[in-house]
Amino acid sequence: MSPNVPAPVVTIDGPSGSGKGTVSRLVADHLGWHLLDSGALYRAVGYVAGAEGLDLSDADAATRCAQTMKIRFMASPDGGDTRVLVNGHDATDELRTETAGAAASAIASIPSVRQALVELQLGFRKAPGLVADGRDMGTVIFPDAPFKVFLTASAAERAQRRYKQLKGKGLSVTLDGLRREIEARDARDASRTVAPLKPAADAVLVDSTGMSIADVVAKVLAVVQR
Ligand code: DC
Repeated sequence: MSPNVPAPVVTIDGPSGSGKGTVSRLVADHLGWHLLDSGALYRAVGYVAGAEGLDLSDADAATRCAQTMKIRFMASPDGGDTRVLVNGHDATDELRTETAGAAASAIASIPSVRQALVELQLGFRKAPGLVADGRDMGTVIFPDAPFKVFLTASAAERAQRRYKQLKGKGLSVTLDGLRREIEARDARDASRTVAPLKPAADAVLVDSTGMSIADVVAKVLAVVQR
């Protein structure tokens, strides 16, 4: 690949619980491409702000956290999930909670926080290619990506998937509570003025309701191999 030609990117955007994380990882593994979990960046900013006892609505303080935060994604030594190191601390487990998701969603509506994370995200674009998972990958961060997917599923199914996932980790959650949280987060992510959750005009829409992970992965790979 010529050094002047940017590495190809597959963007996979969509609401929480649509399966983006799992699908993006499997697609990246299949293609042998890098992976950007952009939600983890917003979660990490929320985590740092929380650890420093900052008010999440304090835009200047949150922006400072985003500008100075050091984040590293590391393969797990035991072959499990990728570990996320935030300012030197393994914050993988803390970042996965619903509380971290809600904090990330709140902090993600601050334009200067989003701006502070742009360069970091662009840096993930390296040969042989990148799979970028998020809300605004195809619309704002990689608008020139040759492959764009918008992955969705009904709120009921997304709540059900999250319920199984969190219960499997031994967390105490209710299906109703999760569905309400998912709907509130969707509404906030889709209605914010900066980089709202919406499909890029040139994205392929995939509704994964009732589909297996393997079928969704095959659909995304078909978009790349088109
Ligand atoms: O994908 P996730 O659930 O880890 O994302 C957590 C929150 O971060 C999500 O509710 C909105 C925000 N986010 C965003 O605004 N833009 C992105 N590209 C990724 C996540």
